Order: sequence, then structure tokens, then C-alpha cells
Amino acid sequence: MTLDREPAAPLTEPERQLFFIEELKRYITERQAQTGQPFRFCVETFGCQMNARDSEKLTGILLAAGMTPAEREADADLVLYNTCTVRDNADQRVYGRLGVLSHYKKQRPDMLIGLCGCMAQEPTAAEKIRTSYRFVDLLFGTHNVYALAEILCRRIRQGSGTVVSLLEQADRIVEELPARREYPFKSGLNIMYGCNNFCTYCIVPLVRGRERSRRAGEIVAEAERLVADGVVEIMLLGQNVNSYGKDLEGGVTFAALLRRLEQIPGLERIRFMTSHPKDLSQELIDVMASSKKICRHLHLPLQSGSTRILQRMNRHYTKEGYLELVDRLRAAVPDIALTTDIIVGFPGETEEDFQETLDVVRRVGYDSAFTFQYSIRSGTPAAGWEQVPHELVQDRFDRLLELVQSMAAKACSRDLGQVREALVESADEKREGYVTGRLGSNLMVHFPGDASRIGQIVPVRLTQSKGFYYMGEAAE
Ligand code: SAH
Ligand code: SF4
Ligand code: F3S
Repeated sequence: MTLDREPAAPLTEPERQLFFIEELKRYITERQAQTGQPFRFCVETFGCQMNARDSEKLTGILLAAGMTPAEREADADLVLYNTCTVRDNADQRVYGRLGVLSHYKKQRPDMLIGLCGCMAQEPTAAEKIRTSYRFVDLLFGTHNVYALAEILCRRIRQGSGTVVSLLEQADRIVEELPARREYPFKSGLNIMYGCNNFCTYCIVPLVRGRERSRRAGEIVAEAERLVADGVVEIMLLGQNVNSYGKDLEGGVTFAALLRRLEQIPGLERIRFMTSHPKDLSQELIDVMASSKKICRHLHLPLQSGSTRILQRMNRHYTKEGYLELVDRLRAAVPDIALTTDIIVGFPGETEEDFQETLDVVRRVGYDSAFTFQYSIRSGTPAAGWEQVPHELVQDRFDRLLELVQSMAAKACSRDLGQVREALVESADEKREGYVTGRLGSNLMVHFPGDASRIGQIVPVRLTQSKGFYYMGEAAE
């Protein structure tokens, strides 16, 4: 069959994409009738919550086009990698997996392979894929995830080769297309896209573009739809949620948006990520303190404890400013759990700078911390600066990890013996007759219960601390 129709009348972008979803569906239906087999797909996600949410959108489009999820990549007719390029090891993971896919494709040449997301958006990686991974059929970036059906139609029409669809800039925000949530009871919700901060180590602004906030009314309407569909917990997503609204007319702030979301009946829990310390306002702290729904957890990336390094990173805060912010947060919200991201071995980092980082970690006593070795990203300013030798970086990294782990274990005994609410997310994988819930602090608790509790918020007494999770019992 052919797939050569184009929309006749001028359509809005969502309408246009719905047209291509229908086209694709015609093709899939016909093909399934010919082969007697379902057309199966796999979407693999690498990277952060943004990508996880984008993958739900990709999956929603493929399901709407009549495709069936595959259990394993080897069985899939279409494999889509939604990639991350924040550090070199993220790239390497994808190259390794592509190598495996190339073997499957030799056995089944009609398998379609797509690569999208942040790596595709990065020019050097995109070029490498086009020239050295020529079996990749679809290559598209972060700015046109919504156009998957159209891009697939083009590839099917074309019959061979790679369809490349990379937009240099995001010219618009396209929403209102199908999305399939991974969990029925919780969801990510994009409130903004892109980043304007240009931290000197970071590739994200280059692959995600400039900051674009969605209008508050649209966000609230989407949240209401999600709640009507059974969602009790929403995670608001943005690279720097604290600067939400700065690009909108009328100057709505993130705190004001939270106040509106708080009013939605049936929405039980609100989370958000990520918060940049430089933009965290007193207004936001006040909203958190008075809220019944905002979880008592804040991810507040430190990156470095040295003011000198923070300046070179272009972070716009000092060690003292960060610590003062933590004090204000704890004064207003005493039970708040704090987590962070830290980079070790940023160009120019000395042992003294590193000691400052350890000092902040000790003083704050994070509930947990993601620690990273600095990774050179081409196109960023720090890539050209003199690098710290690898042995030094490794040694500092090991010392930091040890400290972080001991602090986290301490933090995880703070609520011992208390009753805390947990949203039950799944049956416990390891213990028969147990379920696993997420606490407001973002830690997990395992307790006796059956699968009928999944999606419910249950008060749980925390009876045992296991270092980075709890054991407990339902406390109704
Ligand atoms: N927008 C978020 C971070 C997104 S990237 C924020 O500003 O907090 C997630 C984390 O990856 C960052 O917080 C940083 O710690 C780490 N990271 C980013 N670029 C890196 C690089 N080049 N090398 C090592 N870690 C990096
Ligand atoms: Fe990267 Fe900095 Fe933007 Fe976060 S705030 S995405 S670390 S540039
Ligand atoms: Fe990675 Fe892109 Fe997120 S680079 S961390 S998937 S924004």
C-alpha cells in the first residue's frame, strides 16, 4: 500500500500530526492483515525525567497508530531509542546498544530502527550516526518528538535509507497529542522546555534549546485531565522550574502556578524538578511551607561547594548563599528531604575546592546525592579548559561517594518509628505479599500488602531503616 497522502487543507500542527497517525494506522492495519502478525514496537528511554515523559508521548503515538508493545527488542518491528547526551557514558551506552541492534537487523532487514532525543540533537553525534550507523532508519531530535508519525510515514514511503528530521530550534510547543503513561496513578507534566542558564559544563541548553514556558491555564487543564483519569501524583518538569513564567506575558511565577495546582480536587501530591538554587524565591518557600500537597522533598543541585568553581561553572550563587538558602528552607519546612547533584573534577578544581564540596555535603546532610565525574561535552566552554587528571578525579569521586552514602544512611533513619504516607507504586519485586510505596521524601518503603493497593496513598509506620529505603507496616 502507499502512504503518499498529504493533508489537504491547512491544519494546526496537532491536527496535522493526527492526520499522519491515521495514515500510519491504515498502513499498520493493512500490513497486519497481510502478515497475520501484530506490528510490534519498543521505546527505550535513556536520561532524565524529560526524556521519560517524551517517551510516553512517543509510545502514545505508536499505540494510537495501532501498534503493539513488544516484550523484547529482538522481536520488535520498530525499535526507538530516546537518547541522552549529558555525559559521555550516556552516549557510549547508546552506541553499545546500537551495535546489538545491528545484529538483529541483519537477521531481519525490515526491522525499523529510530534514534531520537538529545544525542540526535547534538551535531557531532548526529553526524557519527549518519555516517557510521547507517542502518538507523529514523533520526530526529528533541524539538519534534510530536512528529513521530509523520517521520515514520516518510520512511515507510521512501522504503530505504535514513530519514533525518532535525530542527535547529523549537519554533513552537506542540501538545494535545496522545500519550501513554507508564503508571496510571502518577504522571510527569511539562511546565517548560529548554534552559537559558548555560552552565559552562552543560550540553542541555544546546540540545533542548531556549526556555519556553507553557501557559498556566494549559498546565492546569492538563493536570485536571490527568486527575480525572486517575492520577493522584504529578511531577512538574522543567530544567529550571524556578524560572517558570519569566518568558510569559503577565508574569506568572512558579509559586503562583503551584498555588493554582494545589486547588485541584483529587490531586493529592505535587512534586517538581529541577530547582536551580539561584532562582529559588522566598515566595516558593512560603508556598511549600503552607501546602498540603507539595511533597516535602527538594532536589537542589549543588554541583560544587567552592564559590570559585561555582563562578567558573556560571551557576550564579556562592557556597554561603547556598547554605543560607538551605537554612531558610529548613526553617520554613523542617521535615524537608534534600537531594542534590554534584560534579567532581570540573576543570581547575583543586583539592581545596573539593574540600569545600565535602564541607557543604557534611553541613547539609543530604538525603541522597547523585555524584558525577566531570565529562567533556563538545560545544561547551569548559571543554576547552585545562582538565583535572583522571586519577585525581577518580580519587575525589570515591571519597565523595563514601561521604554521601554515610550521610544518606543517617538521613534514612530520621523518620524511623514515624507514620508517613506512601503512594503504593508496585508489588514488591523481592518479597512475596509485600508492596512498595514512595514516601513524600522520595524514599521507598516496603510493607505487607497486596496488589489491590497499587495507586493508593496509605499511612505506613516506618519500622526499620535499610540505609536507603525503609521497611514498614500499614498504619490505618
Ligand atoms: N537542569 C538540571 C540538571 C540537568 S543535567 C539542573 O540544573 O539542576 C543533570 C545533572 O547532570 C546536572 O545537575 C549535573 O550535575 C550533571 N551534569 C551535567 N553536565 C555534566 C557534565 N558535563 N559532566 C558531568 N556531569 C554533568
Ligand atoms: Fe544544564 Fe545548568 Fe541548564 Fe541545568 S541549569 S540544564 S545544569 S545549563
Ligand atoms: Fe540527558 Fe537530555 Fe535529560 S541530555 S539529562 S535526556 S535533557
